[in-house]
Order: sequence, then C-alpha cells, then structure tokens
Amino acid sequence: MRSKIVAGNWKMNKNLEETEILLNELAAKLPDTQAEVMVAPTFVNLTGAVRALESSVIEVIAQNMHFAESGAYTGEISADMLLNIDIDTVILGHSERRAYFGETDEILAKKVATALNKDMRVMFCFGEELNDRKSENHFKVVESQLKNALFSLDGSAWKNIILAYEPVWAIGTGETASPEQAQEMHAFIRKTITEAYDANIADNVSILYGGSVKPANAQDIFGKPDVDGGLIGGASLVADDFVAIISAF
Ligand code: PGA
Repeated sequence: MRSKIVAGNWKMNKNLEETEILLNELAAKLPDTQAEVMVAPTFVNLTGAVRALESSVIEVIAQNMHFAESGAYTGEISADMLLNIDIDTVILGHSERRAYFGETDEILAKKVATALNKDMRVMFCFGEELNDRKSENHFKVVESQLKNALFSLDGSAWKNIILAYEPVWAIGTGETASPEQAQEMHAFIRKTITEAYDANIADNVSILYGGSVKPANAQDIFGKPDVDGGLIGGASLVADDFVAIISAF
C-alpha cells in the first residue's frame, strides 16, 4: 500500500550515547503526521535504538545486510540477526554501498531476494550519477538498475518494496534535484513499473526522493504527486531539521 514515508539514513555517524540523545529528542518533538517515520542508525547501535524507541511510533531500520543466511562472512550481518532485534526493514543499494563497497545490481538482486523471503521490507535505493544526467542517460540508467535488481520479482513481492530515487550528484552535495526533476523521474519510474508489471503495482509502491533534502526544500519536493516522501541523510542528524522535514507533509 502506498504510504508517505520520511526516513533518516544516519550512515556512519553517532555513537551509542549520541544515538540515544538524538532519538529521545526526536521522539519528544515528533509532530502529528500521517507519514511513517524511520531512522537507520549504524549496526552497533540498532539494539540501543530499538530500546530507546520502544514507546515511539518511529521505526528503526537497517542500512544494509548480507544476502547469505549465515556462515563465514566476516564483518557481515544477516536478515535473521536484524529480525531477531525487531528490525524488519532494510535499506539496500545505497549509492555509497555501490560506489565504495562494490555492490553490483547482481549482488543487490540477491540481497533483495533474501530480505523478501524473510518477509522484510526493502527500501531499495538507486539513481544516476552526474555524468549520466549530463549525457542524458539518466532514464536509461535508472531503468536498468530497477530491471536488474527488481524486475524478476513476483508481482506479489512488491507490497514489501519501497523505492528511494537518489540521484548520486545530489547526495551530500547540497545540490538537490528540483521538484520538477524529481517528479519527472518518479513518474518515469511508475511508467517503467507499469510496463514491467501493471498500473496497480506502480500506483501502490511508495517512491521516496533522496539527495540534500532540507527543511527549506522538503515541502516543494514532497508536494509533487509522485513523490511519497524522502530518504534524508545529513539533515536527519539534527532533530529540529528532521522534525521540520517531517512537518513538511
Ligand atoms: P543527504 O543524503 O540527504 O545527506 O544528501 C541522502 C542519502 O544518502 O540517503
């Protein structure tokens, strides 16, 4: 079911104490909202975060996971480990995972399959690089990222997919896609899903925008008809900014 979502991707920031402080502040200041609110602290602080948010509607989600069930994968985290601490949503395919940790569409397809088999929800990130946009290949790149990692899934799996379109040139750069650019791409994504599946699946998937969303631009971006919310990096690390972005709905 298509829903409004604002998620904070904390990346490799905040120790345990800082995590608890920020979450307590967020929980206290959370405005009345129809949006689902999620935060993704780093792995070692997930248990603490779940505990800190026990009586809050804010959901704790993971930034990544491995595709294997268990075994000799030093440094990795499995779906079952996340589920065991009450985390059932995972971000997969973030551009930093693709760029710095060699995550390919093929690896991501395996991760998505594992998460869905475990009944987890997947927040799947994708988006073009600056060169792709300059050479007007951005639609083609996005289409192939979706196709390679997601389009072999059964239609029924899509109820557990959230999409996050994040143009790489807008992540952490202060440069945001204009609301029109975001809308244009989100509409293209729905059209692509309609062609691969059907209009019902395309209409029901939540598509978030990510890339330098701030209190100042959130309302204009979220106001576009095919934008269902945001995946927020930098601005999610400051309670007042994140709360202002949530309020933008
Ligand atoms: P940013 O990051 O908001 O700092 O640009 C977004 C993201 O990487 O998800």
